[in-house]
Amino acid sequence: MSERRTIPYGKQSITEEDIQAVVETLRSDFLTQGPQIVEFEKQFAHYVGADYAVAVANGTAALHLSAMALGVQPGDRVIVTPMTFAASANCVRYCGGDVVFCDIDKESYLLDLEQLELILAAKPKGFYKGIIPVDYAGYPIHGERLRKIAKQYGLWIIEDACHAPGAYFVDSKGEKQLTGNGKFAELTCFSFHPVKHIATGEGGMITTNSKELYEKLLLSRTHGITKDPARLQENHGGWYYEMQELGYNYRLTDLQAALGISQLKRADRGLKRRQEIAQNYDKAFQNVKGITTPQVQSAHFHAYHLYVIQVDDRLGLYNHLKENGIFAQVHYEPVHLQPYYRQLGNRSGDMPVAENLYQHCLSLPMFPTLTDEEQDYVIGKIKEYLKN
Ligand SMILES: Cc1ncc(COP(=O)(O)O)c(C=O)c1O
Repeated sequence: MSERRTIPYGKQSITEEDIQAVVETLRSDFLTQGPQIVEFEKQFAHYVGADYAVAVANGTAALHLSAMALGVQPGDRVIVTPMTFAASANCVRYCGGDVVFCDIDKESYLLDLEQLELILAAKPKGFYKGIIPVDYAGYPIHGERLRKIAKQYGLWIIEDACHAPGAYFVDSKGEKQLTGNGKFAELTCFSFHPVKHIATGEGGMITTNSKELYEKLLLSRTHGITKDPARLQENHGGWYYEMQELGYNYRLTDLQAALGISQLKRADRGLKRRQEIAQNYDKAFQNVKGITTPQVQSAHFHAYHLYVIQVDDRLGLYNHLKENGIFAQVHYEPVHLQPYYRQLGNRSGDMPVAENLYQHCLSLPMFPTLTDEEQDYVIGKIKEYLKN
């Protein structure tokens, strides 16, 4: 393989069939607000096993509308993991709420449930309104355990599953529980950014089993406007609509939905390839000193949006890979350390486990079209740097 070729950490895969699906929609009557949206929502809800799905402009919009639908108000406190992209926390701030960070577990890198219970137990019930866990890297939270805690303290859950369509955990009865199936989180959010499992350019989805939340989301996605005769306060004729609350234009287009439907057909194949790539890395690094690979418990099916290793000299390895055309990435600088969140009172040292992970983590190339040859090249360059 030519060593001048570049290998990113993540990348979309677009087939001729995907292109045809978009072209057909371009020739149809609807570029937006048409049948592709409804079909994409139906198929996505089926894919994750939820009753309802609402397609939106991106994952951030999905989180924002979710926080609105659950009624986050100025001053409401919501618990969020710091090991995530800023949007997981920002959705609370958009509604005027306060973000309270809870550190992560050092093996799963997910919200630490013991820490969470300590935080919750220290205040009277009602002090916190909700929790936003993130299925970091595609490793799903154990929804059943989190639900039990949430129930005890009267909290809602918005699961940020932007990394995890197709992931699942096995519950205490031995049953598979797909991420986003609506049984454990009130609302689950997904992103269709090109590095994610399903790419629509920009795009997002919210799944739920609550009809009430579903209807709220539909309304707030389109300016808070309804034409539904059953909901109108007055009716002046066929043209008539009412804006009943302050909403947004957070719609996905039909072009994007057509691409999403086409991509969804290959989602399971993509997951399978991600598993293979992860196994190849696991095997290759098994006896390599100085690398920590992802720890996967048997009750969790990892969707491997990312394959995150830890090394001591992360900057050195990052630069070595970059010099060799391999663009690894760092996920994430903990959100509480971003200047905006520091200015709200968060400090270095507040979240020691997340901060330690940030010092060492590196996301290696992980996407379904990564070839074995490319992966061998990446592995070789890592071993070369670590002199194994
Ligand atoms: C964990 C997480 N949450 C939310 C988002 C926001 O999604 P989007 O980029 O589609 O707005 C992302 C995307 O990068 C993400 O990784």
